Amino acid sequence: MRTYYATQLSREDIGKTVTLAGWADSLRDHGGVIFIDLRDKSGTIQLVCDPADSKSAHEIASAVKSEFALIAIGKVRLRGEGLVNPRLKTGEIEAIIETLTIANKSATPPFAIGDPKVAEETRLKYRYLDLRNPKLQANFELRSKVSHAMRVNLQEQGFMEIETPILTRPTPEGARDYLVPSRVHTGEFYALPQSPQLFKQLLMVAGFDRYFQIARCFRDEDLRADRQPEFTQVDVEASFCDENEIMSVAEKLLQAAFKAAAIDIKIPFERMSYRDATEIYGSDKPDLRYDLPMTDVIDLLENTGLKVFAEIAKEPKRNRIKALRVENGERLSRKEIDALTDFVAKFGAKGLAWIKLKEGVLQGPIVKFLSDGEQKAIVARTGAKEGDLIFFGAGDKKTVLDYMGRLRCELAKTLNLADPKAFRFLWVVDFPMFERGEDGKIAALHHPFTRPKELKAQIEEIESIAYDVVLNGFEIGGGSVRIHEEELQQEVFGILNISPEEQRSKFGFLLDALKFGAPPHGGFALGLDRLIMLMSGAESIRDVIAFPKTQRAQCLTSAAPAEAEEAQLNELGLRIRKNAK
Ligand code: AMO
Ligand code: AMP
Repeated sequence: MRTYYATQLSREDIGKTVTLAGWADSLRDHGGVIFIDLRDKSGTIQLVCDPADSKSAHEIASAVKSEFALIAIGKVRLRGEGLVNPRLKTGEIEAIIETLTIANKSATPPFAIGDPKVAEETRLKYRYLDLRNPKLQANFELRSKVSHAMRVNLQEQGFMEIETPILTRPTPEGARDYLVPSRVHTGEFYALPQSPQLFKQLLMVAGFDRYFQIARCFRDEDLRADRQPEFTQVDVEASFCDENEIMSVAEKLLQAAFKAAAIDIKIPFERMSYRDATEIYGSDKPDLRYDLPMTDVIDLLENTGLKVFAEIAKEPKRNRIKALRVENGERLSRKEIDALTDFVAKFGAKGLAWIKLKEGVLQGPIVKFLSDGEQKAIVARTGAKEGDLIFFGAGDKKTVLDYMGRLRCELAKTLNLADPKAFRFLWVVDFPMFERGEDGKIAALHHPFTRPKELKAQIEEIESIAYDVVLNGFEIGGGSVRIHEEELQQEVFGILNISPEEQRSKFGFLLDALKFGAPPHGGFALGLDRLIMLMSGAESIRDVIAFPKTQRAQCLTSAAPAEAEEAQLNELGLRIRKNAK
């Protein structure tokens, strides 16, 4: 029915008769003439219903209320003198309506579409109304374009799209599984895939050579602004190739994805070791749109008069004293410094010492404890200049690196250091293969199918052939070269304390497949939702997912999850334990 979307029209179309279709965004009755802002997915245009032009259109317009669905036929004309609205794309024009049809009426909407003050809960409950907002529509248009471009690019790079099961066995990616009870096999459960990891490896054994899938993944984990319990990966795997070839596939893919969003990005991306990323930037996903590096000063403070620091400096292997130099940091007010101190305290900091270099001398509460030699050495090591401020974090390595990394990001916010238009990519490489949790248990840093470079007696020193791709401080993807030999896979399972029986029962199918000439292979997965969030400048991953879940993993639109009927539970052989935890 429609001949144009609202914002396709401009002063070039003056005099044309057009058919528009959409919703009544707002209405104004100006002494007999009714103005309706008609909204479709592109934006809005002003309809004029003047009884002098069409009596019937005016009569129908007088019955129209907010969010009625309308079809309007009319002629485009220039707005009158002084009536131009420069904030609107169609602000110079309007359509004089000859025929107006109410396609459907609407109940009074619970909120005005696009009103930023509406609580997110309400918006999510009526998500279909919330999504009428052209700003949100644009995110989905972008998402669709980018997905398409990625599919085309992967096909061009020789990859074949293959679907893998959703009802499957657990794939360990570090989160809890969503389980689905089986009716046919009472007491047994499918797991929803945390990723297609194991199946894509089986596809390599099957000889497909180059696979991809835009795959839905499910992880029952604590949610954040960039995490959802179900999300989408662009998942890729290839055989007979090394990590450089795989990383190059990912770079070309990302370049094509950004091109679809009219953004030019340069490849190849910079690479940084995990060690450097964490020691210098306090993060395995540093935002490099700003520098703010940290330097180690623990060796300079062994005999310092500042007792806490001297104590910490006694154990340089276990502990860190990091200096974070802020160029021109003297502009930070006392209040801002106090706020930053409170901020790092939330992440375990015992304090946040600082000094600044002003009029050629160091100033600040800890200066009196530092010898001349220590002061000079700190200035030289950090490269501090007149007007700079240096923060110190001291304590155990893990805690200090973590909160100093967060301090770095917080400082960038306080001082507005990150260019919001920049896209800064980075590969973080040479990850440790294993990490020891707080409970002392060894876990795989990526997943247990990642290839170790070389097995060593000191488990924490083993590195893996794994890489993460980072964009503006977000991990947008990750991957690795895999283990393709049964024996090595068993050895790694062994290090992870998975007994031979458990290996058989959980991963027997993988171990079996590796027996039959499994080729060397590797791959990666990009988080599509995060990628679109960053491309569109959205603040939350929820703005690029049509029906996202809340922080409490609920779909407010459909009111899921919900209780099951007694009969369903019976069929599944399940009984709900009240008070179960
Ligand atoms: P990984 O677990 O790093 O790797 O996941 C790949 C990418 O998926 C995105 N992502 C998420 N996005 C939104 N919500 C979540 N809960 C979420 N979890 C992860 C991230 C992440 O970088 N099988 C491996 C890949 C491989 O080795 O090939 C895997 O799943 O952007
Ligand atoms: P105190 O001697 O405890 O008063 O601390 C002197 C200065 O050092 C204060 O500015 C504290 O914020 C800071 N400070 C104390 N402990 C630490 C620490 N572990 N890391 C960084 N700064 C600290």
